[in-house]
Amino acid sequence: ALKASPTKGALTFSTIPPNRLDNFVVPNGYDHSVVIRWGDPVVPGAPAFNLNRQTVHAQSKQFGYNNDFVAVLPLDKKGDRALLVVNHEYTNENLMFPGFTSLDALSVEQIRVAIAAHGLSVVELERVGDTGEWRLATKGALKYNRRITAHQTRFDVTGPAAGSAFLKTAADPRGKVVIGTLNNCAGGVTPWGTILSGEENFNQYFVGGDGVPEADKAKLARYGISTTARYPSDSRKWDRADERFDLTRHPNEANRFGWIVEVDPFDPEARPRKHTALGRFKHEGANVIVSRSGHVAAYMGDDERFDYLYKFVTDKKFQKGNSWQAREHNLTLLESGTLYVAKLDYTSASEIDGSGKLPSDGAFNGSGRWIPLVRGDKSFVPGMTAAEVLTFTRLAGDAVGATKMDRPEDVEPNLVNGKIYVALTNNTNRGTGSNPKADEANPRTANRHGHILELTEDRGDHTSETFTWSVPIVCGDPADPATYFAGYDKTKVSPISCPDNVAFDGAGNLWISTDGNALGTNDGLFATPVSGPERGHLKQFLTVPLGAETCGPFITTDNQSVFVAVQHPGEITGASIEAPASTWPDGDYAKPGVVVTWRLDGKPIGS
Ligand code: FEO
Ligand code: CA
Ligand code: CA
Ligand code: CA
Repeated sequence: ALKASPTKGALTFSTIPPNRLDNFVVPNGYDHSVVIRWGDPVVPGAPAFNLNRQTVHAQSKQFGYNNDFVAVLPLDKKGDRALLVVNHEYTNENLMFPGFTSLDALSVEQIRVAIAAHGLSVVELERVGDTGEWRLATKGALKYNRRITAHQTRFDVTGPAAGSAFLKTAADPRGKVVIGTLNNCAGGVTPWGTILSGEENFNQYFVGGDGVPEADKAKLARYGISTTARYPSDSRKWDRADERFDLTRHPNEANRFGWIVEVDPFDPEARPRKHTALGRFKHEGANVIVSRSGHVAAYMGDDERFDYLYKFVTDKKFQKGNSWQAREHNLTLLESGTLYVAKLDYTSASEIDGSGKLPSDGAFNGSGRWIPLVRGDKSFVPGMTAAEVLTFTRLAGDAVGATKMDRPEDVEPNLVNGKIYVALTNNTNRGTGSNPKADEANPRTANRHGHILELTEDRGDHTSETFTWSVPIVCGDPADPATYFAGYDKTKVSPISCPDNVAFDGAGNLWISTDGNALGTNDGLFATPVSGPERGHLKQFLTVPLGAETCGPFITTDNQSVFVAVQHPGEITGASIEAPASTWPDGDYAKPGVVVTWRLDGKPIGS
């Protein structure tokens, strides 16, 4: 139950204009504070951060780098204590190590620090007074505080591909326990109190793809791992610190990343799990909803140009209630079920190009089908076993003719209206050369600014194999005729570019954060109602500092606070610690950090 019930309809906050400030900017009547930043202690007893003497020992107990997904889970009934769970997607070594010159020049210990700065953090928070502000809890045992890293934490592998030949390595001949998680991007919270996290661009950590058996090369290449160069240009050369990142020596190690990870933050002793039943791709994240029948549906995107949209439906039903039996049961839900890929049907290769045709004309919408790929051990893809479909899911999607999308990022059900919202961040290759042309679901050639897709399951049933869809928002400068805001007056909406993560408040309003604003101003967080006369009235709520991407976002269930992760502040070509492009948040050099924003009068955020 919500403590504060937001008013429906208009979002009344004062719109933040586009800017290039090295600040975190919120509307009048709101305030913000940094909850935690890179290097802050997480595990009790963590050493104080020392920029000039970073060690793998210290970083393994401190808040990691490049916070992305954010979840805040209540710890007590009063609502004064909560757990903050955060992903650490990747590292910017040039902004982490003084005197940085090149990745090649890093010491092995520095590489190990970077490895330890990946993963997740769990920390206890306490409310400040009776406001929407939260800070790190410092009293008590802090027994939930925990670092999950890429180099120490063991993950159990579940589901039909666990133990398959594709996952076996010299260090793990059973193919059932993986060390670490990599490139954890977005995620979701489950109704049984765990968090899901997507392993995204894991390809960049592996070298030696040129030395694997010929038969494996096509599979590696489909996941972006070079099979011609030992050290591709984007290589991080982690094999210098740990030989398992060298595929020539350990050809299956890369198959052990690219999964959806489930973490139980309420059980610090519990091993996190990688769920093979949800397939392997560049997982942005996963967000679940309990269907009317009790089966749980998880919605997922594969963030690559021309890749796919997926759904997973559990075999078992969600059990309500707080008993430990119900929780034990629900913790197994994602271990068995059916994995689907989306095929979006449309009648024309329409393009939103300023020629006058708009989604309101009945274009840019259609029906669609969830094509089953695998159910348990049964593969529906000719020539592929279930374990192959799950481990090389992109190839399965290719085989069944799934719809090639413009980089599906966050895919999240709106718990108020039951519809699914998909952030398609951009795809500048759409319609260029021999690439797929614009279509109604991806309606812009050389799509620089991205769009939002709204998906409605038939009969409102999240286990349905058919759906309808439309494109409510085509991003960009509203003055550009090739943009669309659900038909709302474009003189009143904020410019938006490159939608990435989405969230919903208690009224069901859609909140969208951006990554890589192609309009040249800072990234930020936006909100729009999705129904009624205000549908499409998109307004910018906050902006993040120079060079940063806006991640999270997370609106607390009491609607009092919005958390965002400021990821890679100062990530601008040529920047370094000595010559920072951003000095946020402390005025010296840039540090990724999580920020809470709250409303001074205590009313619901945004309303
Ligand atoms: Fe890590 Fe797709 O953003
Ligand atoms: Ca993202
Ligand atoms: Ca989200
Ligand atoms: Ca992104």
